[in-house]
Amino acid sequence: MVNARMNDRLEPGAGDRKALVVQARALLSGQRDLVANAANLSSLLFHGMKDLNWAGFYFVKGRELVVGPFQGKPACVTIPIGRGVCGTAAEERAIQRVADVHAFGGHIACDVESRSEIVLPLIVDDTVRGVLDLDSPLLDRFDRHDEEMLKEIADIFVESVDWP
Ligand code: SME
Repeated sequence: MVNARMNDRLEPGAGDRKALVVQARALLSGQRDLVANAANLSSLLFHGMKDLNWAGFYFVKGRELVVGPFQGKPACVTIPIGRGVCGTAAEERAIQRVADVHAFGGHIACDVESRSEIVLPLIVDDTVRGVLDLDSPLLDRFDRHDEEMLKEIADIFVESVDWP
């Protein structure tokens, strides 16, 4: 366990990940508006992480996800809960880390360049209110360290907002 922790610390990029968490916390503090914080966090992640082609939000409206603030090419506007990587994360209330989107049955290709994807559900008071979605043109772009960092950042985002 101690060794694993030490390896984590030595792993290249760990410092960058910690810095991004610190930046996210600072960026979202002092502002509780959903759109403002979602917009700024999309920008921070898109510009702060390498090899992304899309970073942003979908929010739950009825039985669908509706696109929110993002960075990247224009995206699908609505995704039924349970469909695609985003809809699966919302339905299963579980992070979806997909190394190869072509191997994920039902993946919705908004940008044909996307090859890997990670989607984190945003759970507020036990209710899924949306997802945070990141896409990469590289195969297997997101590792478990990215997942842990993004989970921490998604939690900071959920706590930072006065949910309407
Ligand atoms: N690929 C997603 C759709 C959203 S875009 O990637 C922006 C999915 O399968 O749900």
